[in-house]
Amino acid sequence: MINTLTIRRPDDWHLHFRDGEIMRGVVPYTARQFGRAIVMPNLSPPVTTAAQAEEYRGRILAAVPQGAAFTPLMICYLTDTTDPDDLARGAEQGVFTAAKLYPANATTNSAHGVSDVTRIYPVLARMEAEGIVLCVHGEVTDRDVDVFDREAEFIERHLRAIAENFPQLKVVFEHITTADAATFVESCGPNVAATITPQHLHINRNAMLVGGIQPHNYCLPVAKRERHRLALRAAATSGSPKFFLGTDSAPHLRSAKETACGCAGIFNAPFALESYLTVFDEEGALDLFEGFASLHGPAFYGLPVNADTITLERGETQVPESLMLVGEEIVPWHAGQVLGWRMVS
Ligand code: NCD
Ligand code: ZN
Repeated sequence: MINTLTIRRPDDWHLHFRDGEIMRGVVPYTARQFGRAIVMPNLSPPVTTAAQAEEYRGRILAAVPQGAAFTPLMICYLTDTTDPDDLARGAEQGVFTAAKLYPANATTNSAHGVSDVTRIYPVLARMEAEGIVLCVHGEVTDRDVDVFDREAEFIERHLRAIAENFPQLKVVFEHITTADAATFVESCGPNVAATITPQHLHINRNAMLVGGIQPHNYCLPVAKRERHRLALRAAATSGSPKFFLGTDSAPHLRSAKETACGCAGIFNAPFALESYLTVFDEEGALDLFEGFASLHGPAFYGLPVNADTITLERGETQVPESLMLVGEEIVPWHAGQVLGWRMVS
């Protein structure tokens, strides 16, 4: 039995830091575990220009604890009026690592998102030419589409067309939640990949709706049926370079989750690696964890792997019922549970 795992330091290819005091409170959790993280741009107002991204990056770097070598990777929030020149310049100067497509109103702070995907086809053409990665929140937003079908519908209405019209464009299908998405990604060429969150490997939709409504298991895209969870576990532990780690850690205070109209998002940054590793252990795939966590992401983004390593060992991690942030409570993912792995260095 493997009791200790030393791997290249992992990166988180999708998370939310927010800004201001909340950001300063959550950055240390991620910097403890990860070398780099793609910081999603859905602030209010969103990060739409290279100048805004540079300023935001500066604020994040100022929040990194002394001694931690953590690099935030910045993302351009695409809108109907994105300036392709600013995006290309920002990428050229190393400010932007990728650009994010949010269908308008798909999720938290996405009101400024793209109203019709074909509207940004000229921007996608430019990204394809410049080698800029497109990150996609893959859900349709039409009121008449059932929330559990929104991801599968997005593939048929938009993603297949994007992949066909822009064959050289690198696309990351973010936080996939369905067997449909895993199958689609596998069927595409090497330019299409996906991130998978820990929560979608651990829970199905019952965790949100059975025994009373469970707001801390609510995120977008919502967890689906058990067969989808099993397909995601198979994809994550398949060893395929198309699937890599993206926590989608999305901090919302307890007061914003436990209310009549609760926010979508799960705050999993504090013990993200312990959470993923539990899944790989259950699947008998500990030997494939380094690829998923530390190697496939850099390879897809064309970045070097991290030089240093981390070590995790079998042992108890007691996850607190809640943590304090900006003088208020926030409930972490796995609150009150004991995980079977812990990070030692
Ligand atoms: C994210 C957030 O709160 O910013 N919420 C979520 O449920 N995942 C946005 C997102 O990634 O959809
Ligand atoms: Zn997200």
